[in-house]
Amino acid sequence: QRRNALGRDLADPLTMERLARQMEEAARTHWRAAPLIDGVETSGDAVPVTSPADRRQAVGDVVWATEGQVAEAASVAERAFKAWDGRPVAARAACLERMADLMERHMPELMGLCVREAGKTLPDSVAEVREAVDFCRYYAMRALADFGQGESLHGPTGESNRLSLHGRGVFACISPWNFPLAIFCGQVAAALAAGNCVVAKPAEQTPLIAARAVHLFHEAGMPAGVLQLLPGDGSIGAALVRDDRIGGVAFTGSLETAQAIHRALAARAGPIIPLIAETGGINAMIADSTALPEQLVVDVMASAFRSAGQRCSALRVLYLQEELAPRFLDMLSGAMEELVVGDPARLCTDVGPVIDEQARDDLLGYIDRQRQAGRPVLGEGRLGEATEHGLFIPPVAFGISGIEEVEREIFGPVLHVARYRARDLDAVIEAINASGYGLTLGIHTRIDSVAESIASRVRVGNCYVNRNQVGAVVGVQPFGGEGLSGTGPKAGGPRYLHRFATERVVTINT
Ligand code: SER
Repeated sequence: QRRNALGRDLADPLTMERLARQMEEAARTHWRAAPLIDGVETSGDAVPVTSPADRRQAVGDVVWATEGQVAEAASVAERAFKAWDGRPVAARAACLERMADLMERHMPELMGLCVREAGKTLPDSVAEVREAVDFCRYYAMRALADFGQGESLHGPTGESNRLSLHGRGVFACISPWNFPLAIFCGQVAAALAAGNCVVAKPAEQTPLIAARAVHLFHEAGMPAGVLQLLPGDGSIGAALVRDDRIGGVAFTGSLETAQAIHRALAARAGPIIPLIAETGGINAMIADSTALPEQLVVDVMASAFRSAGQRCSALRVLYLQEELAPRFLDMLSGAMEELVVGDPARLCTDVGPVIDEQARDDLLGYIDRQRQAGRPVLGEGRLGEATEHGLFIPPVAFGISGIEEVEREIFGPVLHVARYRARDLDAVIEAINASGYGLTLGIHTRIDSVAESIASRVRVGNCYVNRNQVGAVVGVQPFGGEGLSGTGPKAGGPRYLHRFATERVVTINT
């Protein structure tokens, strides 16, 4: 029986006290990220990395990769491919199992990095490390199941047919800052489990966590040339996808970048290169008049404001059936006033900072334009103490008439609320589908047939009924969308590794 990682019980004072002490110790380490090619770290000019929760707080420093190092990293990975792909799958899986064990052992330090470098709250940091651990164990298990002996296929007498899976070559793994450990490890672990070598380019906002993970991968037994790290901005990612040695790309991030990668790959001469892209969504929730308001408010708050709304799964547009609206909106504005916005290292904090100055300015600009346009404010959070040096945004809920008024994904603690009449439900479903995105959907109703009918008509990858719509669990809720939200396959699902692999059939006339 497969089990997901346990994490830590933050509600237990003794656990919390011990964890706080260990995190404090880890915070005294001056973390460093630098290009790592064939196991050798480059020296160079180091730039400080500071915390989005307090820009005066140094977390470590980073040496950025140069475009010249892209070719070097790709050739090293290319040379290492044959031996790695040729290793028994059990050996590759064992490395990933050891990586999972190491991350569990180093949980306080990894959590500390999530809090300080990415501004994640403590509960989010526990979830982050757990998810990274789960990805490694789950993909190790899937590799053992699917990449071992291959599959015997039934054919005519006198013939044997065997289908087997193999690595494709060198994968570029380009990962986001909002899950700086989990998605980074998920992409890398999947590519490695399938027999590929990797050049990883983490988000420029979170190079330190990625560098720590790469060192742990090597400690877990990944040979030097199998996994390289290139900290850098979009120009490094762009150079990587143009490099002829890259045989596949796994990308999680914005739709615009996914489209740019798609075009760059299409413009390359030679083989057709697969792109696995996970992007965003303008995710909706539909709550009908039978929904339980007490449960709904808890689930809306979690879906819209947990992780400061910086999840691709987060709720952006809540549709309320009008009979429910007056009572629910009272509860929503009350709950929003209670939100604690501030230092993510404190257990009482609900909403930490947004990731960087650009995100803060974009969000503040958007919020300002909504106010100026006269959109009603249905709820507002307040900034807590000591937030002047960090990038904090008080959560806000605006009234709108429908999802079509939200032109793009607003990646922060901003909720839009629309009312609908029972007879307009079909139009609501049509409008949600017309957004072109298809990542998550929430449904709150106590009528099973209504839930089933909505779930069958809205085109999304992950639909959640009578609960929140964030925090998909590896192997339990395989995660990923369709349309503008991504190419599939689902991360943490049974078919994810197949897209990182190539299939071969050997037919023998016996
Ligand atoms: N996997 C994450 C979630 O489900 C993605 O944002 O919330």
